[in-house]
Amino acid sequence: MSQNEIKDLEKIFEEKIARDERIEPKDWMPEKYRKTHIRQISQHAHSEIVGMLPEGNWITRAPSLRRKVALLAKVQDEAGHGLYLYSACETLGISREELYEQLHTGKAKYSSIFNYPTLTWADIGAIGWLVDGAAIINQVPLCNTSFGPYARAMVRVCKEESFHQRQGYEIMLTLCNGTEEQKEMAQDALNRWWWPSLMMFGPTDEESTHTEQSMKWKLKRKTNDELRQQFIDQTVPQADILGLTIPDEDLKFNNDTGHYEFGEINWDEFWQVVKGHGMCNKERISARKNAWDNGEWVRDAAVAYAEKNSEKEIQQAI
Ligand SMILES: [Fe+2]
Ligand SMILES: [Fe+2]
Repeated sequence: MSQNEIKDLEKIFEEKIARDERIEPKDWMPEKYRKTHIRQISQHAHSEIVGMLPEGNWITRAPSLRRKVALLAKVQDEAGHGLYLYSACETLGISREELYEQLHTGKAKYSSIFNYPTLTWADIGAIGWLVDGAAIINQVPLCNTSFGPYARAMVRVCKEESFHQRQGYEIMLTLCNGTEEQKEMAQDALNRWWWPSLMMFGPTDEESTHTEQSMKWKLKRKTNDELRQQFIDQTVPQADILGLTIPDEDLKFNNDTGHYEFGEINWDEFWQVVKGHGMCNKERISARKNAWDNGEWVRDAAVAYAEKNSEKEIQQAI
């Protein structure tokens, strides 16, 4: 293709995005757009799958049958999110095997929040309330993102995330209306999950290397700092209802701006966890690798069964 032809295609592509039309897998797209989407969608898919691990730990220890059913449903939803997203990613010309390989070798990242441990039952409440709450704020704008398969997957994902957020908040509410000890457990979970939840929105706008291009492609509709502020403004009143204290001495409402001001995020900790030195990085990756290795016979059996069936179909057709 000549340079001029590429320029024409780029123009058509950019006009489509400007008109808020979707880019579909068979449409022409710049290589950088394709690569950026593979990176972001796979990172998102890996986060859903690795995110099952800290909560999966608590399925057998959930305090009642009702809690167990709800948590089981939530963790299964996360598996479903991962699968939609891997499928969306595959439409960009990368295989599932390559994507897993990237996760297992550490080449691809997943959300650092899942490298923190879940120490008590209250952590399951805090994760639903804060982590799924932050995920919704990150993901709602993606329902309008330019790449069609990603945008469509997000519509269902967001509906399920709001169930996750509410089940988490309800756990917190029950603990906070319980015994003194239960309330302390809820406060302790908030203390440990608050700051990592704020880090889920990524580095500040000044530090974020991908924001500008991603905004242009409508892969991002709001900046990291805008989304983080929205999360804080929404979540602080919810903590008040619970009667819990946000672990930030600098937190205060600014009447003029209508927003909460907040303290300094520990970006050293953020980068340490991103670089693989969080409390559970090694544990999470080895759990994923083991699941992949131990599941080999299931994949082999599924392929053998599919082959047998297609042979049968061919014979019947003859
Ligand atoms: Fe999810
Ligand atoms: Fe979720």
